[in-house]
Amino acid sequence: MTDVSNEVVSDAHPGTAPGVTADDDGYDDSHVGYVASVRGSVAEIRFPERLAGIDHLVEVSTDGPADGAALEVVAHIDDTTVRAVALTPLRGLRRGDRVLDSGSPLTVPVGDELRGRMFNVFGRSIDRRDDRGLDELPQRSVHRPPVPLMRRPATSETFRTGIKIIDVLCPLERGGKAGLFGGAGVGKTVLIMELVNNVVGAYEGTSIFCGIGERNREAEELHRELTEVDVLDRSVLVFGQMDEQPGARLRVGHTALTMAEWFRDEREQDVLLLIDNIFRFVQAGAEVSALLGQVPSRLGYQPDLASSLAALEERIATTDSGAITSVQAVYVPADDFTDPAAVHVFGHLSASIVLSRDRASRGLYPAIDALRSDSKMLSPLIVGERHYRIARQARETLAAYDDLEDVISMLGVEELSKHDQQIVARARRLERFFTQPFHVTEQFTDRPGRLVDLDDALDGCERILADEFDDVDEGELYMIGGLDDLDDERGEHDQDDARDDERDDAERDENGRDHGDVTGDDGGRAA
Ligand SMILES: Nc1ncnc2c1ncn2[C@@H]1O[C@H](COP(=O)(O)OP(=O)(O)O)[C@@H](O)[C@H]1O
Ligand SMILES: [Mg+2]
Repeated sequence: MTDVSNEVVSDAHPGTAPGVTADDDGYDDSHVGYVASVRGSVAEIRFPERLAGIDHLVEVSTDGPADGAALEVVAHIDDTTVRAVALTPLRGLRRGDRVLDSGSPLTVPVGDELRGRMFNVFGRSIDRRDDRGLDELPQRSVHRPPVPLMRRPATSETFRTGIKIIDVLCPLERGGKAGLFGGAGVGKTVLIMELVNNVVGAYEGTSIFCGIGERNREAEELHRELTEVDVLDRSVLVFGQMDEQPGARLRVGHTALTMAEWFRDEREQDVLLLIDNIFRFVQAGAEVSALLGQVPSRLGYQPDLASSLAALEERIATTDSGAITSVQAVYVPADDFTDPAAVHVFGHLSASIVLSRDRASRGLYPAIDALRSDSKMLSPLIVGERHYRIARQARETLAAYDDLEDVISMLGVEELSKHDQQIVARARRLERFFTQPFHVTEQFTDRPGRLVDLDDALDGCERILADEFDDVDEGELYMIGGLDDLDDERGEHDQDDARDDERDDAERDENGRDHGDVTGDDGGRAA
């Protein structure tokens, strides 16, 4: 038998129901089929006696090199033929090879023993650790209906992240779904890792990480990060990365969700489900659809994009037994936010955080575009009057600055009215205050990570909006945590450079106006 992936160490058949071995004896003839054709990752299989059901897992059982390969039935072609998509490479699969219908959809193990472990789409461990305890676990089909609306409570509670700009301007919902949208390299993965750092430790339930179609290196980094912050034993990792079959990338989300549902339903826990990257699920669906010869819809996407995405997203739900809070990275192809994949994912979310290349290029991390990000939690009824007012004012100030930006780039800040100049100064201070050093980037930013209380973040915004920091260089607000950090820095600053400051003040008085960094002619460079 060939291994289903390089990393698989246990030798049971993938996805095989417990107690059923996939050798010849385990099956009667009605389960046996033969490969009729193979094209890439799709095979047509003839079952002379009884057709394998839709979604059933079927496995190759032959003397040839493809022995052990697994596929999922996706279509019935005629009375005896099914079409199936590969979950593992079909290398060496030939016409006439024998295939066994497992008699059920792909199933994965569920149970407390999953915690601390790393799995592939089949729910088989890929962390090269002792599998004792995993083999006896009950199995669950990865295809499950979403919970009915009746069982979903209507509560509204925010979910704190310790990241200022998120908690103030686009608070996440406990039991809700949040998306982190952005093109390549704008900081989606870094943000997810920072959430691991900030919230997993404080989270009492189980955290499940699902890597879909991204780099294997990132899976290793996540594993290391979880070990370092000592939360691995409360975490389950599930990966179907970019080197795997489209069928595997299409199903790995179902595997992770099936495990998440178990912790919610059977252990009545709150579950944190982090997905990087849900776009790859849609992309895998498009690949499978193309392999099946379906006529694509807009931009080459599969015709069932909306329904297949909904079937997965609707399962990410909070019930009366527990909450599943999910944060999903959403890759936006070519930074085009009208892309159908991005648009459809957006429709399922209660908070959407947009990361912008422009901000990333200016070093304003996390590169969240406050004006394009939004959360349905930002209502006075949920976050309270004060928070709502501060967030609205901050947003208005940033929006006003945005409107002025064209004028500034043509004429310079000096040409603005005094009033507008004040708005620009305020907005630029806010912009800098909304940057934050992350724990997970300590090694390349040289700044210790900061987790900030919502109250501290709100205080900071309120005081900046009230122009309390008119005498503070905006650069001092860059990459700090709460205002305490500012006081610390200023304290040192005062001692070291008291004389310089005096001279600066004198100059400022002479010129009759503030000068230097506020003009924006530095191309907006922070710090
Ligand atoms: N908050 C941050 N602070 C500092 N650097 C960051 C931050 N976020 C992203 N970066 C930089 O951007 C790079 C790409 O980030 P990453 O999260 O991998 O992007 P994405 O997942 O969106 O493709 C990182 O390796 C890092 O150099
Ligand atoms: Mg990434």
